[in-house]
Amino acid sequence: MNVKIIPFQQHGDSRGQLIAIEEKINVPFEFKRVYFMYETKKNVRRGLHAHKKLKQILFCVHGSCKVHLDDGMEQREVLLDKPYYGLLIEGLVWREMYDFSEDAVLMVIASDFYDESDYIRDYNEFLKEVSVKNAKEK
Ligand code: TYD
Repeated sequence: MNVKIIPFQQHGDSRGQLIAIEEKINVPFEFKRVYFMYETKKNVRRGLHAHKKLKQILFCVHGSCKVHLDDGMEQREVLLDKPYYGLLIEGLVWREMYDFSEDAVLMVIASDFYDESDYIRDYNEFLKEVSVKNAKEK
């Protein structure tokens, strides 16, 4: 699956911790957008989509949440509970975020601006796109 957990370097000292996020240095793509989710209600699932082209890194910078990942062949659950772990998602991957702690802040670094036409919000359409992609790669 085209996902990876990247441990970001913590610049800690006696005052506390700091993480730097730098384009093409510790993030392997150019990015145009940062957004974050907070005050997510209990038992809510967010995401429920895949992207055609967008690359993203998800950080739970406070609290915790889980991410369900599915590339049409394999499924994975990832727990994000440390601010220094970035979850890199590239390619056609269906994602759902769930089990948000009350204090969770989920920050996303994205390779492009918001563009609804890059979204696949229907799971069956997602599976179709996966098989088209697999057929092309054969
Ligand atoms: P939505 O796509 O439902 O969030 P998710 O699928 O990640 O749970 O987005 C919620 C709203 O915010 C929707 O009206 C679109 C808007 N939005 C933006 O305007 N810009 C953005 O960068 C994002 C991610 C969402």
